[in-house]
Amino acid sequence: MRRDLKGRIVLVTGASRGIGRRVATLLARRGCRLALTARSADELAQTAQQCQQLAISYGFGGEVLFVTGDLTLATDRERIVAEAILRYGGLDVLINAAGVCSFGEFSTSTPEILRRVMEVNFFAAVEMVRLAHPYLAYSACQGAQVGWRPAVVNVASICGRWGIPSMSEHCASKHALVGWSEAIRAEFVRYGIDVLLVLPGLVRSDDLQRHLLRNEGKIYLDFAGAPPPEQVARDVLRALRTRRRELASGWVSWGVWWSRRLFPRAVRFFMQRKVWRFARRERLLSRTS
Ligand SMILES: NC(=O)c1ccc[n+]([C@@H]2O[C@H](COP(=O)([O-])OP(=O)(O)OC[C@H]3O[C@@H](n4cnc5c(N)ncnc54)[C@H](OP(=O)(O)O)[C@@H]3O)[C@@H](O)[C@H]2O)c1
Repeated sequence: MRRDLKGRIVLVTGASRGIGRRVATLLARRGCRLALTARSADELAQTAQQCQQLAISYGFGGEVLFVTGDLTLATDRERIVAEAILRYGGLDVLINAAGVCSFGEFSTSTPEILRRVMEVNFFAAVEMVRLAHPYLAYSACQGAQVGWRPAVVNVASICGRWGIPSMSEHCASKHALVGWSEAIRAEFVRYGIDVLLVLPGLVRSDDLQRHLLRNEGKIYLDFAGAPPPEQVARDVLRALRTRRRELASGWVSWGVWWSRRLFPRAVRFFMQRKVWRFARRERLLSRTS
């Protein structure tokens, strides 16, 4: 059965820009009551205003709450969920879209980068689910008669299914998130809560390279040619509405997802070649200079 999101209370993390912002605007058009969070107050306020206007223009009430906070801090996470509950009296869907990425080789990276990436991409998402779980379980009880199932959507990455060179920290955090999501998916069945995974490939998010913790990777990534965040947002909504447990978003992600199953050696060779090519170019450059 398709999930009807109209009037549902949805908490979206990472809503100040990129994928989270686009998900919020799509949900506003469907008449959801939104709680949005991120650290940047001005950008978050802009998203909230945009959502409110969109909801009203689509004939809905336009209920949007925004709460600034750093998801790596337990007190902020608790405050964010508490404010959403205080405002709406419950929670029906949690979308974990906040994330950070570091692009660079492990041999020249630092323990601080690894910990930062794990804190935001894995621990924060997991702890948000821990806080949201009682309210989602309550939503399941309340909505059971009308066929409603609450959900958690974790925006992971295809890096959570296949290790991409120059992104070791990101891959580690997303593999952890994917594995953990699969485990709780089975646990949460008894509460009537769906746990869904959306795996984007490379996405042309807002000023993405400026927000990388580090931008020194040694493989070529075509950021300019990557799909826009709107496409991932549409896929998040598709996963939610159709109850898709795992959705590879974008053709790169889709290609890696299937090739990994059908031709794992070919994918390994392709990734390796990307690194070899870069290393060869570096060697040639160092000889000529
Ligand atoms: N873009 C890609 O190529 C790509 C590919 C695969 C997967 N993904 C995943 O998709 C998700 C969204 O990515 P995106 O492209 O939309 O990235 P983005 O444009 O950089 O947005 C990241 C969002 O996370 C928030 N955030 C970061 N650190 C935070 C913290 N400590 N506390 C609270 N909020 C925090 C940011 O808000 P503030 O800075 O205002 O706090 C921002 O709203 C991430 O999980 C990412 O790993 C992205």
